[in-house]
Amino acid sequence: MTESSTTPGLRLAGISKVLGGRTIVDDLHLDIAPGEMVSLLGPSGCGKTTTLRLIAGFLHPDQGTVEVAGTDITRLGPERRPSAMVFQNYALWPHMSITKNVAFPLKVARVPRTEVKERVAEVLELVGLSHHADSRPAHISGGEQQRAALARALVQRPQLLLLDEPLSNLDAKLRVRVREEIRDIQQRLGITTVLVTHDQEEALSVSDRVAVMSEGRIEQVSTPAELYRAPATAFVAGFIGSSNTIPALDLGEGEPGAEWMVRPEDVRLDPAGMPGVVTRVLPHGHYAEVVVQVNDTNLRAFVTGEPPEPGDEVGVRISRALRYRDGKLDDAPVTVPA
Ligand SMILES: Nc1ncnc2c1ncn2[C@@H]1O[C@H](COP(=O)(O)OP(=O)(O)OP(=O)(O)O)[C@@H](O)[C@H]1O
Ligand SMILES: [Mg+2]
Repeated sequence: MTESSTTPGLRLAGISKVLGGRTIVDDLHLDIAPGEMVSLLGPSGCGKTTTLRLIAGFLHPDQGTVEVAGTDITRLGPERRPSAMVFQNYALWPHMSITKNVAFPLKVARVPRTEVKERVAEVLELVGLSHHADSRPAHISGGEQQRAALARALVQRPQLLLLDEPLSNLDAKLRVRVREEIRDIQQRLGITTVLVTHDQEEALSVSDRVAVMSEGRIEQVSTPAELYRAPATAFVAGFIGSSNTIPALDLGEGEPGAEWMVRPEDVRLDPAGMPGVVTRVLPHGHYAEVVVQVNDTNLRAFVTGEPPEPGDEVGVRISRALRYRDGKLDDAPVTVPA
């Protein structure tokens, strides 16, 4: 293997940051492969933006190092780093055309005029904004403004693209479309990318891997499928998707300090299963979420086809469960034969 294929595109080696007397980023380790897109996902206040600012150079860590393609950039300011950041609020200049906005970082970097023209035209083409080259930001849609902000980052040809909640100002439909466009461009350019989001669907749908953060630490970094099927900690299990948490004692395990996690799609209604009573039915179009009380535990099941009604007596069968001991996944998934 060559050196370059083993050197991460980005390495965060044990970075920590104290702000206002509190540890906001806590000994965080993360390696991102060249060309990989990784999302930082976690609840509000867990330190996602702070981590991104540490990568971009707007903040410097108290401990640890930031490396890009094997080079330590920990002490460099943002303008000397090979990264470009897209901010949540776009930060476009209202009095400048889209062309001038996108050209701005190149002007600051004293790139020759003819090269600026070429690179801006190229990147506007890439994000599909050539026809708005002369428009002002106020005269284009939110999605187009977001693509202009992306163009302004890409025109710098960064080694590292940093996106902080880039889609949160867009409506639901547009968010889906623009995130697919961003993913498409990211893959075509093969650019190492960190996306910060608190929207799990967004993170799971466009990332190669997702890093779930809690209180300044990474709980788990995995592919979206792995994260969903085998959450490493009880926090991740509760944060990603919908889940049932069942104290071990309720399943007759007699093991205090352990609990089970069961996805609603792994709970089946089956007359031969554990007896229970339907307490709630929430229709979602092509399926219904059905809550069944079994002993003292409420179990949520996804039911396709005709759902039962509240008050119905039903049987419940669990086809797959994960066990957590002291908050950590301790066994391979238990698959209960149907
Ligand atoms: N300069 C600062 N001084 C003191 N505390 C700060 C500073 N910057 C951030 N914090 C605190 O650090 C914590 C993490 O903030 P951060 O912006 O990184 O969270 P986040 O995960 O991006 O949250 P959100 O999803 O709401 O954007 C918050 O409690 C915040 O108040
Ligand atoms: Mg944030």
